[in-house]
Amino acid sequence: MKKISLEGRSLVTWKDYTKEEILYLLNLAIKLKQEKHKKITGQRFRGLSLAMIFEKRSTRTRCSFETSFGEEGGHPVFLSTQDIQLGGKESIQDTARVLGRMFDAIEFRGFKQEHLEALVKYSGKPVYNGLTDEFHPTQALADIMTLYEEFGRLKGLNLCYCGDGRNNVVKSLMIISAKTGINMTVISPEQLFPSEDFLEYCKKEGEKEGCSFTITSDMGKVKDADALYTDVWVSMGEENVKEERLSILKPFQINSAVMESTGKTSCIFLHCLPAVKGEEVTEEVFESPASRVWEQAENRKHTIKAIMLATLGVENKR
Ligand code: CP
Ligand code: NVA
Repeated sequence: MKKISLEGRSLVTWKDYTKEEILYLLNLAIKLKQEKHKKITGQRFRGLSLAMIFEKRSTRTRCSFETSFGEEGGHPVFLSTQDIQLGGKESIQDTARVLGRMFDAIEFRGFKQEHLEALVKYSGKPVYNGLTDEFHPTQALADIMTLYEEFGRLKGLNLCYCGDGRNNVVKSLMIISAKTGINMTVISPEQLFPSEDFLEYCKKEGEKEGCSFTITSDMGKVKDADALYTDVWVSMGEENVKEERLSILKPFQINSAVMESTGKTSCIFLHCLPAVKGEEVTEEVFESPASRVWEQAENRKHTIKAIMLATLGVENKR
């Protein structure tokens, strides 16, 4: 088997990664989870530092980066845009060049995908997308890890997402599903369908893996889903369209009747969190035995650690 090295790579979206590279990270994350549960950690990030830029709020992503880097001897530095010059006096290009000279890697959670791309271009260090308006790739790796743990495979699974069909979470899920052979259905109001170009891209990638891709407004298409996934109806930065969103997305809520209409008692419920219970999902489904949201949240940490170990080239160090 070809040896995989991801040293020096950034994670902007999963578009730049092959199936083999994604599965390599998935397997590494599974190993890291087992180690962590046995209280085995090393010093693999010793002598390394990580800049963590946050323009938007975060619980899971911040804690995953910060704790996994720190517990392996690395030095993570949290930089909120309330504190640093970025966005005020200093351009993203200049900030990137400074951080590139002081840190070994950079995490960015913010609004614009172009800012993330500028960090990649000007810092010369691995840069990780911790969520932008466009994509949330680290989330998607944790999501397929949760599916893999549940079903023991990815290829041929039926994943169905209901809700806002063009946000950062669903778009990252669409790419990673296409690359790993998961059949994906996105159920959304037409106004919130992803762009034609993006759909074309996912369909083409999916064809290589023999998986299907459906986009529809028909909630009846949850039939046969192995997992139902949803995300908030109003993403960070979109608060001004709240009223409109709530009204158009109401029919796309995941509730017990929707879970039942999959026709599969084994169907699980997934959510990237944080959740607004009573909107995209009912409390009943969220708290039901079918819910895997805490596994998903925990897997954020192991997958993020895997991404950093591999891109810093220290996954085999002790
Ligand atoms: N799912 C997720 O990204 O959570 P946070 O916003 O808490 O980081
Ligand atoms: N789509 C959500 C995801 C939060 C993790 C948002 O961008 O707010």
